[in-house]
Amino acid sequence: MSSAAGFTSADLAAHAVRRAAFVRQSHLGIRNHGLSGQTLVDVGCGPTIYQLLSACERFQEILALDYTDQNRRELQRWLKNEAGAFDWSPVVKYVCELEGDREKWAEKEENVRKKVRQVLKCDVTRANPTEPVSLPPADCLLSTLCLEGACKDLATFRGALRNIGALVKPGGHLVLLTVLRETYYAFGNQVFSCLYLERSDVEEAVGAAGFDVRFSEVQPHPPGDARTDCDAVLSLVARRWDPGTG
Ligand SMILES: C[S@@+](CC[C@H](N)C(=O)[O-])C[C@H]1O[C@@H](n2cnc3c(N)ncnc32)[C@H](O)[C@@H]1O
Repeated sequence: MSSAAGFTSADLAAHAVRRAAFVRQSHLGIRNHGLSGQTLVDVGCGPTIYQLLSACERFQEILALDYTDQNRRELQRWLKNEAGAFDWSPVVKYVCELEGDREKWAEKEENVRKKVRQVLKCDVTRANPTEPVSLPPADCLLSTLCLEGACKDLATFRGALRNIGALVKPGGHLVLLTVLRETYYAFGNQVFSCLYLERSDVEEAVGAAGFDVRFSEVQPHPPGDARTDCDAVLSLVARRWDPGTG
């Protein structure tokens, strides 16, 4: 089994359906909590943009970080509108519909392209995940479906949350989408291992990383998907403790 995935456009297409629930949950995570600000950092962005579709309306700039060169390249292909880049338009239309105007999809695609300012290498297991680059603290940190694949055990998961948590300003927010009780998932022709997590493991690790959990919701993952033993998906919004205001 692998732990860091390099995805192709074909893999993305094959998993578009599985992603519909994730698209909706990351949209609601940003929108329902009124999050906004100057900078949002997406940790473990992969080659995907669905998680940025609501964020791009509320933040002035987005930094996308990922471990694998292949995923960062695939994302760059879409951002640069290169021939052969994955077509995200059905997903963009879906999110525009959730936001009330399906016709605005082309405008939104342009907005994502404009707002993503940097795509950088990162490793969540490092104290400074973007070493040797030091980022100024962001208003919001988003991470969808990354840590459970990147971390081999709970101690590493807790450490990774502390590492990425330090990328957020005191008083800033963390939006996390994590699968629960999953040990593997198949993508393309590879099978990836996944850290088995309970909701309490995630909430405790977020608290130990210096955040107050403001919202946490578990959605069951529909059974019968042979590509994964995922049981549920946790959406969580937390605020970094601020020594100035508490
Ligand atoms: C399942 S994908 C999720 C991609 C995207 N966020 C999404 O929601 O579809 C997990 C991502 O985590 C990245 N990753 C794995 N190990 C990592 C690490 N140590 N540091 C940062 N990213 C890592 C992989 O390269 C991959 O792009």
